[in-house]
Amino acid sequence: MNLSTPFPKKIYTLGNGGDYLIRPIQINDRERIIGLFNNLSPESRYLRFAHAISKLPDDFLDDILHLDYVNEMALVAVIQTHNGSEEIIGISRYVTPPNQQICEFSLSVSDTHTEHGIGTHLMLDLIAHAKEHDLQEMVGYVLSGNPKMLHLVADLGFQISSADDDPDFKIVTLLLQDKS
Ligand SMILES: CC(C)(COP(=O)(O)OP(=O)(O)OC[C@H]1O[C@@H](n2cnc3c(N)ncnc32)[C@H](O)[C@@H]1OP(=O)(O)O)[C@@H](O)C(=O)NCCC(=O)NCCS
Repeated sequence: MNLSTPFPKKIYTLGNGGDYLIRPIQINDRERIIGLFNNLSPESRYLRFAHAISKLPDDFLDDILHLDYVNEMALVAVIQTHNGSEEIIGISRYVTPPNQQICEFSLSVSDTHTEHGIGTHLMLDLIAHAKEHDLQEMVGYVLSGNPKMLHLVADLGFQISSADDDPDFKIVTLLLQDKS
């Protein structure tokens, strides 16, 4: 990993008295990312990928594990299992097209760990990281039939608008830098 700004170690409390850590993804997280995907219900997979998907494509995994941590970033929420190993229970990610300053995010939280604020914290830390690296705007494409995600991003200050050419999606945008 080559982070120009060290990512602070962030520990948050879970509702059951345990806690979880948010950290940048690491190259050795491949199996843990597959484990997270396997813990997503078919509905959650559909909401995340906008189509039915039963296995993560290898090129998706390669992309997500090989980041520059500036224009591309992924944060994972991690718990310790009973045997002391790590389990990834959520991931937020952005990618920025070449020569642009508008990044596109995505977010997933394991079905067994939703409603504990993990998605919100993953997004807040991702937004902070994008701001620190001078990205100008964060955008996301959220299915219109995903009220929970639309609610979550609205609470974070994102503007929600309809996609002109596709009623199935909402475009959500957040300015990252103060323009004044
Ligand atoms: C949408 C998704 C990311 C939300 O993740 P999450 O971790 O449940 O999100 P949060 O817990 O931060 O927020 C969800 C709700 O939990 C509430 N919450 C926050 N902290 C809480 C806590 N400690 N205890 C109970 N509820 C809590 C929030 O207030 C929010 O409720 P609200 O909708 O009434 O405001 C998750 O359901 C998911 O992965 N869905 C499938 C994939 C998907 O839709 N991805 C988005 C496509 S980009």
